[in-house]
Amino acid sequence: MILRNGHVIDPANGIDRITDVAFAEGVITAVADNLPADGERELDCRGAYVVPGFVDLHVHLRDPGQTAKETLTTGTAAAAAGGYTAVAPMPNTSPATDSAEKIATLLKRSESECSVKLLPITAVTLGQEGRELADLAAAKEAGAVAMSEDGKSVMDITLYREALRKAASIGLPMFAHCEDKNLVAGGVINSGMASEKLGLPGITDAVEDVITARDLILAGETGCHVHLCHCSTAFSARLLKEAKDAGYPVSGEVCPHHFAMCDDEIPGDDANYKMNPPLRSRADMEALLEAIRDGIFDCISTDHAPHTAEEKSRGFVKAPFGIVGSETAFALSYTTLVKGGYIDMPTLVKMMSLNPSRIAGHTGGTLSVGAPADIAIVTGEECRIDARYFRSMGKNTPFDGRRVYGKVLATYIDGTRVY
Ligand code: DOR
Ligand code: ZN
Ligand code: ZN
Repeated sequence: MILRNGHVIDPANGIDRITDVAFAEGVITAVADNLPADGERELDCRGAYVVPGFVDLHVHLRDPGQTAKETLTTGTAAAAAGGYTAVAPMPNTSPATDSAEKIATLLKRSESECSVKLLPITAVTLGQEGRELADLAAAKEAGAVAMSEDGKSVMDITLYREALRKAASIGLPMFAHCEDKNLVAGGVINSGMASEKLGLPGITDAVEDVITARDLILAGETGCHVHLCHCSTAFSARLLKEAKDAGYPVSGEVCPHHFAMCDDEIPGDDANYKMNPPLRSRADMEALLEAIRDGIFDCISTDHAPHTAEEKSRGFVKAPFGIVGSETAFALSYTTLVKGGYIDMPTLVKMMSLNPSRIAGHTGGTLSVGAPADIAIVTGEECRIDARYFRSMGKNTPFDGRRVYGKVLATYIDGTRVY
């Protein structure tokens, strides 16, 4: 197959120009101008970008146990529609993914049920209960690419340090959801303008920043790679920069909703605007954008968190936290970051494919000859987000109806078109 005359962007090889990409038997065979036709199938990619498939280090697939929200099949179909070729599902399913056996089951099921590659994440503690460590070495052996307690933090600092020490010794990164349980105090929305306007209990920056600092400091002490999930405050970006400057083994992700929206846009008691961490202040949003411009964040992840319409109809206090993101991430990122002038397209591609791929120790994220033919074809054309057409079972997004630039035309996994 030859993808002809697309604007090929492959940050791993410094490619950013109109050229051809060829693949056969699941792997990239050439990236060069005027590849001979030789009877192969061709796709005219003029006017589109041809890029390494995106890699999402943070999704919730809800399977097993919460399949009224999403399944492996629908969640990965949504990912494919978003240009993703690999996703890392968080372990907060029912039961939690907390053993080698459950990691192996996920990988086995993915062969028949998933349209993109799975990069499973093990829970840090059994049942994510914060009491006893999971067998991290066995989980890694079975295929876990990271550990995470996402949805919460391991609050017992002694136990947590032990987990980081073990993980450091086996080369397993920690994907850290930073939230001090003792400081949350029933908050459901950012503390400030939004919580005051709506008369709702607020979540302060300290809820996130206190644990962010703890986790970065422990990365330095233990040598475990700590990857900060969904950074949402100005101060978390400063802390991440500080830790990087100190040479600590750390990285950080930012989610489109935190840099494309802020709490002054919440129209009322609508739980499609409720997620954790919450939409922060405009000043925080601007600080995140500047941090992205300055290269402080390594990647963009979605925190794709589907819930049912019924659950999300309950208002801010009673509805669960989370919004879907797989099918809006590229458009929101391209519109806000590239059209907005913060970063160029190669940097966006790097933040959505190469960097997350490296953090997960995944072989994707590049169009190098011999690499798996995991490819997305995207454009910067204008369109409107319409949740009705999502592949995800979750329609819970505050971006429904928003006009954006950025469209995914096709996604290939190992040379097979999955979208
Ligand atoms: O908004 C969120 N939703 N944040 C989390 O940390 C968990 C996630 C979920 O599982 O729904
Ligand atoms: Zn989280
Ligand atoms: Zn999450």
